[in-house]
Amino acid sequence: MADMTVAYSPSHGLGEEDSIWFKLSALLNQEDPMQVLMALCEKYKGVLPVNLKNQRIVLLSEPEHAERVLVTNADNYTKYFDGLRPVFGRSMITIDGALWQKIRVPQQAAFHPKMFEEYFPYLMSAIDSKMDRWQKLADSGETVEMVEETWTMAADMVCRALFDREMPFNPHFVFKQVKTYTDVVNHKNVRLKNVRGELEEITAEDPAKAMEIWHSVPDTVISANVIDHREKTLLTAMQEAEADPDFPEFDHRQVIDEMKQYLWAGTETTALTLAWSLYLLSQHPEAMQRVREEAHRVCGDADPDWNQVQQLSYTRMVIQETMRLYPPIWGLIRIAAGDDEIAGHKINAGDKVSILTYIAHHSPKYWEEPEKFDPERFAPERAKKRRKYSYLPFAAGKRACIGGALSQIENTLALVQLLRRFTPEYVGPTPAKIRATVTLCPQGGLPFKIRKLS
Ligand code: HEM
Repeated sequence: MADMTVAYSPSHGLGEEDSIWFKLSALLNQEDPMQVLMALCEKYKGVLPVNLKNQRIVLLSEPEHAERVLVTNADNYTKYFDGLRPVFGRSMITIDGALWQKIRVPQQAAFHPKMFEEYFPYLMSAIDSKMDRWQKLADSGETVEMVEETWTMAADMVCRALFDREMPFNPHFVFKQVKTYTDVVNHKNVRLKNVRGELEEITAEDPAKAMEIWHSVPDTVISANVIDHREKTLLTAMQEAEADPDFPEFDHRQVIDEMKQYLWAGTETTALTLAWSLYLLSQHPEAMQRVREEAHRVCGDADPDWNQVQQLSYTRMVIQETMRLYPPIWGLIRIAAGDDEIAGHKINAGDKVSILTYIAHHSPKYWEEPEKFDPERFAPERAKKRRKYSYLPFAAGKRACIGGALSQIENTLALVQLLRRFTPEYVGPTPAKIRATVTLCPQGGLPFKIRKLS
């Protein structure tokens, strides 16, 4: 495989001054950035044009704005990924138009719901290995960082189910490296990173080194132990595309970039959702108890089998409610290709627009008692009454998340299995604060102690 390794060439960095993230950092680097955005959106009726130097960014927060940008006039709004190119390369999440469609085709079948049953044993084995670790953590009584715990498991799931490989890298190390890069509000403009209460300086070399390590990961995965030599996996589908002489766009570089996309976009989001849901459940013991009771009612004392997964409806609602309160992707960014008008505001070609999904998720216009953790609001009868496009954890329209359904199966299984054996106890300050990086992270992490369920 060594001869196939793709050379790494960095493109311009995340902390560069022309990046939206850099420009918005003063706004986002607040004690409670979402409260600031919510207050501004309320004051300006959901449309917030921000002029920053020679760049106009229009922040949008209402469901009808999301519908316009993501669905009814989606062709006018192209993807914006400046600064994140080194993380995602030229993978499909970053590209548009006919090329996006062409690159997506060979990958789509791997996300068809009929594939999930095939993935089921691989998801379960990733959960089993997490439970082995938690058994030891419960014995030692040490405090763990929950996002690291759930991120390792999500990466393990992707490697096993989608690539048919044992996870050959140390995710704690690799993801910490990439987070150094994407931790935008403390990058370049601040240069100091708070790591569990201690300030560490980020030097210019750190992000470059981080990206070099990140770039080497996909080839390491391809060369790792193959688990079952399955014929049709996401990886084999991409390798077939690579071998197809009529598909020159899907070269080895493309395979590497798509893998980076799955190892990042398909893991951090899933991991944040699970970690936030464990935090919420630790604050609502009655809901934790309901998850356990449901698991017992559906599966007895045995592990769930595939047919039982659909019956774990309360657990699934817990995951959905978590993504409402803590949407891992809290804002979607697009560039207007041509002029448009949204809610009476002119959008000029070249403007960037950001759909702030977090704001609609927390709006009293669309949710009763929006700050309350209430999984039952996702019960079918209540969900039917919901305003369309007021709940967008996976975006909407043709560019919606390809892995949304899979992530909910991963997290439903993980919650059920982990909570039947353990009580993860949140030991950080309450309420946990958020930190608005590209993803919605807990500020300073989510420290937990793992207790065995007696
Ligand atoms: C809770 C878990 C997840 C959340 C909240 C999430 C969220 C999102 C969102 C909001 C987008 C659209 C981004 C945009 O329009 O700019 C997206 C796209 C995408 N997601 Fe996810 N995601 C999750 C899990 C996954 C998983 C498990 C995978 C795959 C293993 C995945 C793979 C992708 C890909 C490939 C795209 C780009 C699709 C395209 O552009 O055609 N995601 N995700």
